[in-house]
Amino acid sequence: MGYPHAPHRREALVLSKHFGEKDAVTLAGWKKRGGYAALEKALGMPPADIVNVVKDSGLRGRGGAGFPTGLKWSFMKIGDGKPHYLCCNADESEPGTFKDREIMRWTPHALIEGCAIGSYAIGAETCYIYIRGEFTEPIARVEAALKECYDAGILGKNAMGTGKTVNVWVHRGAGAYICGEETALMNSLEGKRGNPRIKPPFPAVSGVFAQPTTINNVETLAAVPAILNNGAAWYKQWMRADNPKSTGTKLYSVCGNIQKPGNYEVPMGFPFKEFLYDLCGGPPPGRKFKAIIPGGISVPIQTVDEAEASLMDYEGFVAEGTMLGSGGVICIDDSQNLVKQIARAARFFAHESCAQCTQCREGTAWTTKILERIVAGEGTPEDLDTLLSIADNMTGKTICVLSDSCATPVVSGLKKFRADFEALIKSKRTILVPAVA
Ligand SMILES: Cc1cc2nc3c(=O)[nH]c(=O)nc-3n(C[C@H](O)[C@H](O)[C@H](O)COP(=O)(O)O)c2cc1C
Ligand code: SF4
Repeated sequence: MGYPHAPHRREALVLSKHFGEKDAVTLAGWKKRGGYAALEKALGMPPADIVNVVKDSGLRGRGGAGFPTGLKWSFMKIGDGKPHYLCCNADESEPGTFKDREIMRWTPHALIEGCAIGSYAIGAETCYIYIRGEFTEPIARVEAALKECYDAGILGKNAMGTGKTVNVWVHRGAGAYICGEETALMNSLEGKRGNPRIKPPFPAVSGVFAQPTTINNVETLAAVPAILNNGAAWYKQWMRADNPKSTGTKLYSVCGNIQKPGNYEVPMGFPFKEFLYDLCGGPPPGRKFKAIIPGGISVPIQTVDEAEASLMDYEGFVAEGTMLGSGGVICIDDSQNLVKQIARAARFFAHESCAQCTQCREGTAWTTKILERIVAGEGTPEDLDTLLSIADNMTGKTICVLSDSCATPVVSGLKKFRADFEALIKSKRTILVPAVA
């Protein structure tokens, strides 16, 4: 299979329509595909009208929490005399998620156009695209596209000849998971250590440089030009008839024990069973799925029955005991031991904790220690209750939700796959857990 794969007939291509088309990365190629018509339209509209179109479209943030984008934009008080900022979160840290980097690689101008429209809509003259530093190719593509925009007068002090100022800059992150958390991102952008800040104040009140700030994910912003071009009703064609709370299309990154890994774009409400077996080819030959994590490693693990019953939207995944999250679908087949997967996740969170909160610093370390004892064949039955008690102390008590994210796979794993833990403890077998890089 080539990558990007040939689209499946059941995909709905909005964000990934031009993936793999080499000339789409250039300004000329992007304009041939209708690029920057939405920005031109937006710059002729009152900012509040743009916010209303985005509100009406039902677009929700694709960075993990699914907060309504238009509503978030409306928190920025235009005319308050303060400089406003837009930050595009291109840190893409969530394990299992690799869609934002593909948007930047293949359609950098879609992202820049979305950033420019978003900036104007919230009264910001400056947008920072905070990109994980390892993303060398996406960074090069976005920087080249930005240069083309400045050279063509699309961005700058007189954007598209309208007299309005729209600046978009790239800021490279050093590659820490926690810098994807919005307030840590802002600290990092200011040149400080990327530690999350206590909220309130929320970014819309005091964000970057203590000024009103909006943070949006790459996929969120890249969807905006198509919404402005085609209207809110067009975007809402993709939703379940019985669930208007989730609209549009969503990019899912699929990895693990699956025949056709890669990025897939499907409408909200798509049946997960059809997605896993028809689009992604199902588990490797001779294997069955054992568990699925549908939204990146931070969301609860699903049993196969739960996954097969899920409809792919925010509410559909919640109804089956998990979350849509960032859309990183991790597939685990029946050759795997769940304890190994969970131990590896815990080791990752312990490594990435910024260590400000005791519950997170100590909790991630102890969780890792106990799980590693179990995979080393030295666990005891009491360890399982200790793990649950630590997880309870790690949940809902910290500055950011990294602590909760570490507890989530432990709790859902023990609830749904306790037999894996018990069998391993009883057998005293050792299983190898690869190191976190
Ligand atoms: C530990 C942690 C890591 C996060 N990593 C990312 C990330 O890599 N990319 C992202 O867009 N959002 C990430 N988020 C969510 C952001 O804090 C924020 O909610 C999001 O960027 C808002 O954009 P949206 O409204 O468009 O979804 C992370 C959150 C947490 C708690
Ligand atoms: S929960 Fe963890 S990562 Fe988040 S602020 Fe506290 S210590 Fe840092």
